[in-house]
Amino acid sequence: MADNVILVGFMGAGKSSVGRILARRLGRCFVETDEMITAAESRSIPEIFAEKGETHFRALEDEVVRLLALKRGDVIATGGGLPCAEGRLEALRSIGTVVWLGGDFTTLYERALRGGDRPMLHGKTRDEAEALYEARKRFYSQADLIVETAGLNTDQVAAHVTAVLSARPRQAV
Ligand code: S3P
Repeated sequence: MADNVILVGFMGAGKSSVGRILARRLGRCFVETDEMITAAESRSIPEIFAEKGETHFRALEDEVVRLLALKRGDVIATGGGLPCAEGRLEALRSIGTVVWLGGDFTTLYERALRGGDRPMLHGKTRDEAEALYEARKRFYSQADLIVETAGLNTDQVAAHVTAVLSARPRQAV
């Protein structure tokens, strides 16, 4: 039983901050897929996009998903695009409970713009970013659980995630 908790959602959902708090609360290790990639490549995510392009970055994400199969009992924060490939949600669900940190587009977009350099938003209008969000929802919605984040701070979101996880009967995976 791999028993990981896997956070998915659009940029700005707070996956990394919430994941860190959640891991502390649950006494588990915290893993971030973007961090696995930057460590393996010895360069930042914006540098990877700028130097090698999105296709290369997505190939690195494929490799990370293979490595995640080795994780046991961790809290895993995924990059916003990682779950958005055919079969990907099933792969994530096979190694734990997948939680979608949701929210309305405006809230997520504003947080994403405030919080750091996000290559997927470079050169995109707000409408284009919203279209990306809409296209991705069908992947995120395959998560086991949904926690809304709008109007909540990261501590509150982590508390909600803890509550929904403990309300859910444990499943063998
Ligand atoms: C991406 C989201 C980023 C990072 C990369 C691509 C995306 O992670 O993986 O820039 O495609 O949405 P965050 O969701 O943590 O910003």
